[in-house]
Amino acid sequence: MKVLFVCLGNICRSPTAEGVFKTFIQKQNLSDLIKCDSAGTSAYHEGAEADARSINHARLRGYELTSISRQIKPNDFFEFDLILTMDHANFQKVHDMAISIQADCKKIKMFTDYCAIHEVQAVPDPYHTGHDGFELVLDIIEDGCHQLLMEVQRNLKS
Ligand code: 4NP
Repeated sequence: MKVLFVCLGNICRSPTAEGVFKTFIQKQNLSDLIKCDSAGTSAYHEGAEADARSINHARLRGYELTSISRQIKPNDFFEFDLILTMDHANFQKVHDMAISIQADCKKIKMFTDYCAIHEVQAVPDPYHTGHDGFELVLDIIEDGCHQLLMEVQRNLKS
């Protein structure tokens, strides 16, 4: 099972989701069965580490963000089973790309579809915000990753 998290720059939200989900997977000893990665719809920050603010806020909750920014590529649509986008603009771009390469659109979903506690339509872009913006991203991402892992575990058993 392979999950790809997608945002705009691949330096804040999707690296956070990747770091949180990887930690959850490791804690459940499922690293051999479930893999994840992250990407951006843009190449603005190609080759860069995650934003220092995302790294620092995540570290305070026990997550290490190790991703290097990259843009989503056509092969991702064939390599990953599930592609989770952080906001509607990301969703639209990824969806349009899938149609153009005739890939399966059913595997593209909004990350927030998995949230149980936070009733939000998107993970808000924290790039131009302060500490509260980065904390909110972590709150929403922990919520969604928790439900996502439970669903993936159920599917692995069935
Ligand atoms: P992300 O945040 O999509 O969560 O990685 C952003 C990072 C950079 C920019 C926008 C959003 N930017 O415009 O450079």
